[in-house]
Amino acid sequence: MNKYEIAVVPGDGIGNEVIPASIKVLDVLAVTFGFQLAYKHYDYSCKNFAKVGKMMPDDGLEKLRDCDSIFLGAVGYPGVPDHISLWGLLIPIRRAFDQYINLRPVRLLKGVDSPLKNIGNVDYMIVRENSEGEYSNIGGRFNEGTENEMVKQESIFTKKGVDRVMKYAFELAQKRNNKITSATKSNGIIHTMTYWDERFKEIGTAYPNVEKNQFHIDILCAHFVQHPEWFDVVVASNLFGDILSDLGPAVVGGIGIAAGGNINPEKIFPSMFEPVHGSAPDIAGKNIANPIACFWTGAMMLAHLGELEAAKLLMDAIETLTFSRKVLTRDLGGTATTTEVTNELINIIKNNSFIKI
Ligand SMILES: NC(=O)c1ccc[n+]([C@@H]2O[C@H](COP(=O)([O-])OP(=O)(O)OC[C@H]3O[C@@H](n4cnc5c(N)ncnc54)[C@H](O)[C@@H]3O)[C@@H](O)[C@H]2O)c1
Repeated sequence: MNKYEIAVVPGDGIGNEVIPASIKVLDVLAVTFGFQLAYKHYDYSCKNFAKVGKMMPDDGLEKLRDCDSIFLGAVGYPGVPDHISLWGLLIPIRRAFDQYINLRPVRLLKGVDSPLKNIGNVDYMIVRENSEGEYSNIGGRFNEGTENEMVKQESIFTKKGVDRVMKYAFELAQKRNNKITSATKSNGIIHTMTYWDERFKEIGTAYPNVEKNQFHIDILCAHFVQHPEWFDVVVASNLFGDILSDLGPAVVGGIGIAAGGNINPEKIFPSMFEPVHGSAPDIAGKNIANPIACFWTGAMMLAHLGELEAAKLLMDAIETLTFSRKVLTRDLGGTATTTEVTNELINIIKNNSFIKI
């Protein structure tokens, strides 16, 4: 029997609701498909930072190193500045474990309403560079507090970093529909983004069958709204990918269903799976958070671990749930609680009551 060790970091706010809900679902799948999930829980969170001044202990990364995957809810807590959680936990994990791909699926699930009229079939993947780019800590303040005060923030684009994200995206495009779009802004950002374009072109020569497009980020945002059905694989830098992967899901049902994975493709280090949403302090503790983003994230984790059948069944169960529209949370137009949605999903899996869509 395959056994996987999962490091669980629920984090803050609704992370403490959607992660336990997802674990219940994963456990049902483990029994159904005959694999074992062993969880180790870690209280790395902003709430903890508020108490002890650290997001995680000094050996926090070491504790995670040997697990098969990390399953993270969300971090963010009123009173703790957002850069603390990002630079004190998420970025250290992503960088220590070379999770250089941030993968975010955007798909219009059956039964989910889009805020757009006349929307077609939307199903694409955002491949965001996750280890460098605009999110660097190189820079600083100079002449602080004087009339000559200045700040500087450097972007870092390395050949290795750009090429590997391009290769991953092209390989993914080949497995899907042979179509790739690059997000750029080389008209305005003339050093890093022209380099990004050059590498896209160069790496693309090895994939002659893949149809290639590139758009400047501004018009790409407009196309994400006006023509979301155009896309299949979208490759983007750290910042552009971050923005696109909130915009993409907004068009297909919102942040409550947006899943994500921070992937180390070579599997040398553990990958980390986390829904796109944050800790949602406005609804935390009310049992009304939509757990679907976290369920879908769990499906990505199962697929990465190699449990493809279980991952597929979980996605079918999620789509049966949304298609029937009987048990949905408020963000999807329903009235159900997190617990009710979780129980309904488990019923679908256990009773094999999938709707043929
Ligand atoms: N990866 C992460 O851990 C992560 C990501 C984004 C934001 N954050 C943090 O979360 C905190 C709140 O940030 P924010 O308000 O900008 O973003 P957020 O995603 O937490 O919330 C944005 C809005 O979406 C709603 N929402 C989010 N997830 C939902 C769900 N599953 N079901 C239903 N509604 C949902 C919230 O109620 C809120 O109205 C901040 O501290 C921020 O830094 C963390």
